[in-house]
Amino acid sequence: MSLVMPKVSKRVAGTSSVYQIEAWRSSWSPSLVSIAEEENDGAAESISGGYKVTSISHQGKSVEAVLQAISPSSSTFGPDIPLLQLHAGYVSKDIFHVHITDKAEPRWEVPDTLLPRQHTQHLSLAQSTSSEFSFSYTESPFGFSITRTSTGEVLFNSTSPSSNLDSLVFKDQYLEISTSVPVTSSLYGFGESTLPAGFKLVPGNKYTLWAEDVGSVNPNINLYASLPFYMDARSNGNVHGVLLLNSNGMDVLYEAELLTYKVIGGVLDFYFFAGPSPLSVMEQFTKLIGRPAPMPYWSLGFHQCRYGYKNITDVETVVATYKAKNIPLDVMWNDIDYMDVYKDFTFDPINYPVDQVKVFVDKLHADGQKYVIIIDPGIKYEANYSTYQHGIEKDVFIKDVNGDNYLGQVWPGPVHFPDFLHPNADSFWTKEINDFHDIVPFDGLWIDMNEASNFCTGISCTLPTDSSCPNLEEQTTCCLVCSDANMTQWDDPPYKINSSNGERPLGNKTIATSATHFGGILEYDAHNLYGFSEAIVTNRALRRSLKKRPFVLSRSTFIGSGAYTAHWTGDNGATWNDLAYSIVGVLNSGLVGIPMVGADICGFSGDTWEELCNRWIQVGAFYPFARDHSEKNSKRQELYLWDSVTDSAKKALSLRYRLLPFLYTLVFEAHKTGAPMARPLFFHFNEDPSIYAIDKQFLLGQSVLVSPVLTPNTTEVKAYFPAGTWYNLFDYSQLISNGDKGSYHTVAAPMDTINVHVHEGSILPLQEAALTTVAARKTPFTLVIAFSMKQGGEDAGKAEGALFLDNGEDVVMGLESGKSTFVKFNARRNERNYGVESVVKEGSFALKNGWVLQKIVVLGTSSVPRRLLVNGREAVHTVQVNKASRVSLVISGLGLAIGRPFTLHWTV
Ligand code: NOJ
Repeated sequence: MSLVMPKVSKRVAGTSSVYQIEAWRSSWSPSLVSIAEEENDGAAESISGGYKVTSISHQGKSVEAVLQAISPSSSTFGPDIPLLQLHAGYVSKDIFHVHITDKAEPRWEVPDTLLPRQHTQHLSLAQSTSSEFSFSYTESPFGFSITRTSTGEVLFNSTSPSSNLDSLVFKDQYLEISTSVPVTSSLYGFGESTLPAGFKLVPGNKYTLWAEDVGSVNPNINLYASLPFYMDARSNGNVHGVLLLNSNGMDVLYEAELLTYKVIGGVLDFYFFAGPSPLSVMEQFTKLIGRPAPMPYWSLGFHQCRYGYKNITDVETVVATYKAKNIPLDVMWNDIDYMDVYKDFTFDPINYPVDQVKVFVDKLHADGQKYVIIIDPGIKYEANYSTYQHGIEKDVFIKDVNGDNYLGQVWPGPVHFPDFLHPNADSFWTKEINDFHDIVPFDGLWIDMNEASNFCTGISCTLPTDSSCPNLEEQTTCCLVCSDANMTQWDDPPYKINSSNGERPLGNKTIATSATHFGGILEYDAHNLYGFSEAIVTNRALRRSLKKRPFVLSRSTFIGSGAYTAHWTGDNGATWNDLAYSIVGVLNSGLVGIPMVGADICGFSGDTWEELCNRWIQVGAFYPFARDHSEKNSKRQELYLWDSVTDSAKKALSLRYRLLPFLYTLVFEAHKTGAPMARPLFFHFNEDPSIYAIDKQFLLGQSVLVSPVLTPNTTEVKAYFPAGTWYNLFDYSQLISNGDKGSYHTVAAPMDTINVHVHEGSILPLQEAALTTVAARKTPFTLVIAFSMKQGGEDAGKAEGALFLDNGEDVVMGLESGKSTFVKFNARRNERNYGVESVVKEGSFALKNGWVLQKIVVLGTSSVPRRLLVNGREAVHTVQVNKASRVSLVISGLGLAIGRPFTLHWTV
C-alpha cells in the first residue's frame, strides 16, 4: 500500500487506529450546525447521515474512492446523493487536490474553459516522497485530513469526531463540510467584503459569497465578488492556502476553531497549497488559477475619473488644470456620461460629440496620456440599436425561464445581458469593441455593473405598456413588469445563503437564477462567474483591437480574474472609516491573485473634504492602482481643488513616479510568481505575533513600508517597524533603527506628509519624478541602496534589488532578447570596503533605449569614498555627503548604461 500512496493513512471511527489526527477534537463546536438550521427553516435534526467508504483504490499516487450515504436522509435541504466519487492526489508536490462529486451524474463545476487548470498528476515515487502533504481519511463516517508532512501539522480536517455531527453533507442543492482550525491560526480571505474588524478574519463571523451590486461602503456583507480562498498562517510561521473551487453561492462560518462551508451547488473541489511562506502560497495558487495579467506601464500613473463629467469640455478642463497645477496625470477616464442615453459603444451627440472626443483623445496621446472608458454588460433593448441587433443575430443573450431573452433594467432602461459563456460572445464583443475603437482610440476598458447588476428583480420581466421606461428622473427604479410565476428550485433553493445579511434572496437585483446560459447552464451555478467571463472576453477583444497589452478594470471578480483584469474596491464612501478599510480591500485583492487594485481615492459617495482627500491621496498614491473617482451627486474632488491636497498630491505622487521602475518590476514579479504588489507585513516579517493583524500599514514589494494617517486631526502615526533600519524615503535622515526586534514607533506626519520607509537590505531602482509615466521613463536612473545602520551584523553589509524593463505595452511580458531587460543589483559592505554590481540579462533592450544610471544613494553611511573604481577604473564622479545626519551619501555623475553589467568599488 505505502508504495502506491505512501502519504495516505486511514482511521476507522470508534477504533484506536488513528493516524495523525491531532488535538482538534476538543475544538469541535456543535453549536454551529444549530445556528444554520435555525436560520434555514428551524430544522433541528442532523442534515445527513453522512457517508462511508465502500471502495478505495490507488492509481499511481492518487486515491479514488466511492462513498455511500450511510442512512440516506431527505428531511432537510433535499435527499442525500446516494453515491459519491472521491478523487485525491497531487497536482504538484506542493499542491494537493481533493474532489468529491456525484458518482452517477455529472454536476456543475467551474468550466475548464474559463479556468484551465492542471489536473492531478501521477507523481513519480521520488516526487511523491518529497511532497508536502499526506492525506488520511476515516471510513465511517467518511472524513479526510491533510497534513503537512514535514511538521505533522494537520492543515485541514473534516473528520467528524462524533456521530451526531455531519462530517460531509452532499445533496443536490446543499453541500456541507467543516474543518478544524487551531485557535492560534490567523485566517485571511473569503472575499469580497468590507471588513471593519480588519484583514485578519475574526471567529464568530459568517462570510457569504455571492456577487452583488452592493457598495463597499457597506461593511460586513457580500459585495461584488465570490472568492472562496483562504490563507491560514500558523503560529509557527508556516502558511498554507485552501481553495474551494466552486462558483455556487455559499456561506462560510468561522466559529471558534471551526470553519464550515455551506454551499448550494456544484462539487467539493478543494486545492491545498503548501506554502510554507505566504509568497510560496501565492506562487502555488496562481500557478493553478493563472498568474496575474501584465499591466501596461502607463497604468501605474495617476488616474482621474468622475461619474458626472457633463461634457467633453468639462473633461478637457480637468486634464488642462492638472497640467497647469503640475500634478501628475496619466489617465483620464469617462464614466457612463459619455454615452448616448447610456448605450454601450455610443457617444452622446450633444455632450460628447465624436469629433470633439477624437480631438481630445489625440491630444491626450500626443501629451503621453491615456483614455479609459466604461462599458456595462446590459445591452439596451432597442430595435434600431446596432449592438442590440448584433446580439440578437448572434443569439448571444441570456435566456429567461420561458426561453426568451432575459429582460432586465440598467442605466439605459430595458436591457438584455450578453452570455459570456456563449461561443458567439467572443466574436460579438470583439466586433463591438473593435468597431468602437475605430471611432475613438481608447486605451483601456472599465467593465462595471457585472455581478450582473439589475435594477429589477424577477424571474421573467416584460416591457410596461403604458409608460416610458425608464423615467429618467427615477432611473434606478424598476420600470419593467416582472413576475415570479414559474418559480423554480433555482430561484428559491432549500438553503438560503445569507446574502446581504438575509435581505437579498439569490435573484434580487440581478439576473434571475433560473435564467440560462448557452447549453442550459443555470445562472444559479454561473452567477458568480459573470464578471470573470466578461473580463476574459474583454481582455481578448482588447488584445485583438489594440494589438497591445490590455488594461481592463472589472468590478466583479472570481478566482482567476487577476489573469485578465485589474480591480477597484467599488463604491466606497468619503469617510475616514472607508479610507482605513480601503487598505484591507487592497490586501484582500492581492491575496486572490488580483494585485493591480485600488480604492476610489477621496471616496466615491458623499462629499469629501479637504483633510480627508489630503490624507487619501497620500495613501492612494501607493495603491497599486491609483484613481480618484466620485459619484455625480457628490462634490467635485479633483486633486487641484484644495491647496493642501495639491501639495500633498504633488509630494506623494512625485515619490510614486520616482518609484515607477520599482513598481513596474513588482508588476513583473506578480506576473511571474503571483506575488501581490501591496502586501501585509506578515508576508515578510513574523517576528512578533501582533504583526498578523496589522492592516493600517502595508508593504509595497518586500521593502517599502507605507504608514499612513487614517484619522482626523492627526499629525503623528504610531506604526510598527519590523527589525532593522528603515529610512524615510522623503528624508533619509528620518530613520528608524530597530536592531533585531521590531517595535512600534510614533513618527511625525504633518498634513503634507505620509511616512514611506525603505528597509535595510534592499536596493530600489528609481527614475525622476514627472507629470506622466512617459516623461518619467526618459529620465536617468538612481539606485537607492539601503544598508543597515548597524555595522557588522550578519546582513548589515548586504543589499539587493531588481529591475525589469520592457516597452510597457507588449502583449507578452517576459524576458526576451531585444524586447526586455532584467537587471539584478547586489551591494556589499565589508568593514571599509563597499561594492555594487549589476548582473544583466538581455541588456540589448535597455541599451537601445539609452537608459543610464546616473547616481547611487547609499543609506547607512556617510563616510566619504576615498577612491571610486567603476568597472575597475578610477572614475570621475561627484560625492555629496549628508554630514548633518550622517546617514547617506550620493555618488553622482556615473553615466553607466543600465544594459551593461557594471561594478563599483570604493573604500572609506
Ligand atoms: C457603479 C460603479 O461602481 C461606479 O464606480 C460608477 O461610477 C457607476 N456605476 C456609474 O457608472
